[in-house]
Amino acid sequence: MEIKPVSHADEHAGDHGTRRDFLYYATAGAGTIAAGAAAWTLVNQMNPSSDVQALASIQVDISGVETGTQLTVKWLGKPVFIRRRTEQEIQQGREVQLNQLIDQGAENANKPGEPATDENRTMDEAGEWLVMIGVCTHLGCVPIGDGAGDFGGWFCPCHGSHYDTAGRIRRGPAPKNLPVPVAEFINETTIKLG
Ligand code: FES
Repeated sequence: MEIKPVSHADEHAGDHGTRRDFLYYATAGAGTIAAGAAAWTLVNQMNPSSDVQALASIQVDISGVETGTQLTVKWLGKPVFIRRRTEQEIQQGREVQLNQLIDQGAENANKPGEPATDENRTMDEAGEWLVMIGVCTHLGCVPIGDGAGDFGGWFCPCHGSHYDTAGRIRRGPAPKNLPVPVAEFINETTIKLG
């Protein structure tokens, strides 16, 4: 009996077309996905300003903040305390003399270089509104508010830093007052950060 050699090509002739098609389409599909991802990245890179602006500046509705309470909002990845101070807190803050302070700079981005009087820390002349970055200036924990600590303001439990009613460091390892960020009233019930 004659045995006819069968070539490799002949043996799989029927499959090859299908496999090639499959490979072709799979590759084309992957290419499309890759191109899509690249386009998305590019679009994002082309719009950094809108992203950054959205984060760099936010408006906060403070109409619901009662006297003696605090609103905490997240801004640029950090907590920001917006406190509506009581008369007593204001008075306590204003009685403090500069020479009692560890950090005598206002640390207020809106008043660079000014001394750390209570008046230089607050948003309004009456001293009702205090806005601060809620990050301990020691090693970055978030201090507890609502009259915590020995000075009636904020207390950082991580290593025991006490801040007064104006957010000024009074005792403990933190070297600086809680910083006041760039902030302004844009109307009676809205504060803009940044
Ligand atoms: S991080 Fe606040 S006292 Fe150390």
